[in-house]
Amino acid sequence: MSTTTDLIPLAKPVLGLEEEAAVIEVLRSGHLSLGPRVPAFEQAFGARLGVAHASAVSSGTAGLHLALRAAGVEEGDEVVTSPFSFVASANSILYERARPVFADIDPLTLNLDPVAAQAAITDRTKALLPVHIFGYPADLPAFETMGLPLVEDACEALGAVHADGVPVGGRGHPAVFGFYANKQLTTGEGGMITLADPALKERIDSERNQGRAPDMGWLDHDRLGFNYRLSDIASAIGLVQLERLDGMLADRARVAGAYREALAGIDDLTLPCPDTGGNVRGWFVFVVQLPHRVDRDATVRALAERGIQSKPYLPAIHLMSFYRERFGHREGEFPVCEDVAARSIALPFFPAMSEGQVARVAEALREILRR
Ligand SMILES: Cc1ncc(COP(=O)(O)O)c(C=O)c1O
Repeated sequence: MSTTTDLIPLAKPVLGLEEEAAVIEVLRSGHLSLGPRVPAFEQAFGARLGVAHASAVSSGTAGLHLALRAAGVEEGDEVVTSPFSFVASANSILYERARPVFADIDPLTLNLDPVAAQAAITDRTKALLPVHIFGYPADLPAFETMGLPLVEDACEALGAVHADGVPVGGRGHPAVFGFYANKQLTTGEGGMITLADPALKERIDSERNQGRAPDMGWLDHDRLGFNYRLSDIASAIGLVQLERLDGMLADRARVAGAYREALAGIDDLTLPCPDTGGNVRGWFVFVVQLPHRVDRDATVRALAERGIQSKPYLPAIHLMSFYRERFGHREGEFPVCEDVAARSIALPFFPAMSEGQVARVAEALREILRR
């Protein structure tokens, strides 16, 4: 039996004395919100991605909601998106009473398949919402040819780079990042929208702050808004995390490389696709697809018995009970997504993971799959 001390968790943020000091500085300043750290974090983040503007928000979900509004999505519109994503990418479309129209995914990259997406476009399609799933760049050059506004769900993809050398989030379409604690960069909760258009930036900044116009007083509001602000405390943590980012990304890539070696040769186990054609993954999770014959839930339980956390990741959105009931979705609609979603598990994955921990996970999985 393993003890709790040698539990290998699914994820673990890198937080140090620098984050502590930054938080204390904000607390001492008394300026906890709407202060100077927010624009400082936005500028540093935008500069890193080489994009003109960035707007900090309270979560990736809030960012997707505001980005879709900025793209003009309204009641009755359709938005074509991936069913293989975290549920927030589809939910954010529903917030505007628009309809998520799913299209199947590419079996290698697990991203929205451009050919399937093109076939799902109708005269009601207002926008496309590709997701850079598990940090692998979606095929933006293909989506850019379709003549529709794009909103990118880059919540899992900080550090990823497209084949043409542009960082994910740097193409100018609104792209949304998430800073929950398992992400490449964390502020606890939080998010960032990167974009090129200053008019959209102004709309987003107003709508995250209750619809307040930049030149008006605190209580004058010229449009509907929300409270989707990021605090100065969170922004201060984000600024420190941004300085650590290269190291954290390199550590994630190192752990992924160790997994690739340690898991090599297990029959029918599908590993994350390697970088191809110049695309670079921003490592977020290490998700494997189990062989078809294997009982996934039993595998997760067997790993847990050995002190190793894992979880089914990700379930297909269209088969979630809410989406089935609301839209009548059923099995068989998106076969690639459904097959991948039924077999995928996320293994422990975090920057400080040691080679020994990777080896322990790999040995346990190899042994469980042999049974
Ligand atoms: C693909 C994807 N989209 C959206 C989100 C939502 O981000 P948040 O949890 O910050 O609201 C996440 C994060 O969990 C995600 O992984």
